[in-house]
Amino acid sequence: DDAEKGDFPHYMLKEIFEQPNSLRNAMRGRLSRDDGMAILGGLNMTPQELRGIDRIILSGCGTAFHAAMVGEYVIETLARVPTEVEIASEFRYRNVPADKNTLQFVLSQSGETIDTLAAMREARRKGIKCLGIVNSVGSTIARESDGGCYIHAGPEIGVAATKTFTSQVMIMTLLGMLFGRIHHLSTADGMEMIDEMEAIPDKIASILTQTDRIKAIAEKHANAEGMLFMGRQANYPVALEGALKMKEISYIYASGHPSAELKHGVIALVKPDMPSIFIAPDDAVFDKNVSNIEEVLARKGPVVCVTTEGRTELERLTDDVIYVPDCPSYLSPLLTVIPLQLLSYYTAVARGCDVDKPRNLAKSVTVE
Ligand code: G6P
Repeated sequence: DDAEKGDFPHYMLKEIFEQPNSLRNAMRGRLSRDDGMAILGGLNMTPQELRGIDRIILSGCGTAFHAAMVGEYVIETLARVPTEVEIASEFRYRNVPADKNTLQFVLSQSGETIDTLAAMREARRKGIKCLGIVNSVGSTIARESDGGCYIHAGPEIGVAATKTFTSQVMIMTLLGMLFGRIHHLSTADGMEMIDEMEAIPDKIASILTQTDRIKAIAEKHANAEGMLFMGRQANYPVALEGALKMKEISYIYASGHPSAELKHGVIALVKPDMPSIFIAPDDAVFDKNVSNIEEVLARKGPVVCVTTEGRTELERLTDDVIYVPDCPSYLSPLLTVIPLQLLSYYTAVARGCDVDKPRNLAKSVTVE
């Protein structure tokens, strides 16, 4: 039974470990190897209609908002369609420009979050087509939207969202690929992307074999006064998500920042009991991240790094390096977030927190 904890002490840990499978389920039947295409029939839109879309709005709350932020990066990178993320609770209180060629997606695990539902209703009131990216089958967003796409992650019981984040990000990638293929990517480009996407579940499984090491790093920093999470490009939202997980379940104050913003304020917080967690995979901005890491170390701030296998030079700077397998940059959030989920989980366990039911939080917030 999916809703049972099995051998895991907490639902959250079980759900972290389910990610290779939940991602396979998110992709199942949606990738066509023959023509290098993503198939998302639930969008209820023809290729001609999709080609006419010149602006995308993504909305959600909490973790779903962070998945939307990754979506903005991925869709703009792969498809070059201007994409904007609007936090769902703000959407209806401002007047977001949208015309007949604008398409909105709302992202929600539960499909019941009132702020997200209200954003969708406002969009539809204005005649903006609004599709749902939802986990709960038959939920209000699923029923009231103009169509959409289930993420098929299975029940998520832990209040802190984990597997639904990666599944939402995977759907964002499928959308990026779909719009990209419609506009300018070739069949061969699409086929290569499918190979890369289908390799992700096994790569996550390999990260999950490093759990003991991540646990040891978490225990080392479990008494920190606060934590700073830093990343760039698509890993900036991963930094926000890592910080959110840490706050939600360990009650350690944490914040996420674009790494380069360090010098514009955050660096004032750096000190020995304020570790910085850098998400620094082997990408175009790796060297920039390394110089930010050096700035933190020079001010006696401990550093934990999530980087790509092979980038062993970071071990010269810090003992706490966590490796993820190589992948294209647009997919890296699917890998880099896994160690951050485990880091927050083991930090919370070390601090004796109730991981699955953190204080003051609800799995689904149905009041404004
Ligand atoms: C609550 C939960 C978060 C979740 C957010 C959005 O705040 O505690 O974990 O990300 O709602 O929920 P949804 O069901 O819309 O994804």
